[in-house]
Amino acid sequence: MSRPTIISGIQSSGQPSLGNLLGAFLQFIKYQETHETFCFVADHHAITVRQDPKKLHENSYAIAAWYIACGLDPAKCTIFLQSHVRAHAELGWILGTFTQMGELERMTQFKDKSQRHAQNINAGLFTYPALMAADILLYQVDEVPVGDDQRQHLELTRTVATRFNNVYGDTFKLPQGTFPKNVARVKDLQEPTKKMSKSSDSLGTVFLLDDLKTIEKKFKKAVTDNVGAVNLDEENQPGVANLLAIYAACAGVSLEDAAAQFEGSQYGPFKAAVAEAVCGTIDPIQKRYYELMDDKTELDRIFAQGAAKASAVADKTLQDVMDKVGYVRPVSL
Ligand code: TRP
Repeated sequence: MSRPTIISGIQSSGQPSLGNLLGAFLQFIKYQETHETFCFVADHHAITVRQDPKKLHENSYAIAAWYIACGLDPAKCTIFLQSHVRAHAELGWILGTFTQMGELERMTQFKDKSQRHAQNINAGLFTYPALMAADILLYQVDEVPVGDDQRQHLELTRTVATRFNNVYGDTFKLPQGTFPKNVARVKDLQEPTKKMSKSSDSLGTVFLLDDLKTIEKKFKKAVTDNVGAVNLDEENQPGVANLLAIYAACAGVSLEDAAAQFEGSQYGPFKAAVAEAVCGTIDPIQKRYYELMDDKTELDRIFAQGAAKASAVADKTLQDVMDKVGYVRPVSL
């Protein structure tokens, strides 16, 4: 029996944080054991917001390097850059013609981003969901693990796929969104009711590139409360609850066990223990990350292999679509 197929894309913009590590990277790694896993760096998506060329170039490697450093294994899954598999841009174009303006206008990510980048509300930002639909539908995937913020895009992907299938017959498999439960939703260390965001540069965000001293300092300064006791009480002690969730994820214990372990502990030693668990998790990942980034030949080789494997699947779907729509196939002379 063949394994279910899964895909995930990550934009190559910004610096990943502890929130991305615990909420996404380490979660996604698990799939390669049970699923046919495709993981790509969404460089085409990244340029919908203006990027510095050097940074985009470096970040495209960096995202892949973080995944591999976390344990994504190119021998078990397919890792590639979106732009290396030409079928994405081509199917994205075609699917744009099966996506309605009104549908795109309702996308909350478009509304958010066009507010945040009011000086550059470009057409690519608007048609982004058609390209994302192509990313997914090319691989005939069963599942797409995504955060809540991508629910709407996934729904639109299914709408577009259904619309195409209704006109041309069965072409695309309809993907299911999986919205992982029991995943640490890491909050800002300074404002523990807000999600830890990589776009904030305050003390509240732990970046994966922070050195261990900086990480310790950020935990030392983490906001708690004046209850003075470690309890699992998200409503009244959000700072403490966040630290417990981070500890549990890094130490590999349940939230309840983490809370029991620190019962009666003072905040000082509690925070130090959380920092130690985080550093213990991040340290080996950072080391591997730096090795990979230091000499990019291995990453280039992984990308080349990944693109070849991904293209073999993607080109088949694209050809089927183009034949059905009525494009003329090129002949070689
Ligand atoms: N839109 C996703 C995000 O912003 C990234 C993405 C692009 C993606 N294409 C995808 C995720 C395909 C899953 C599948 O996070």
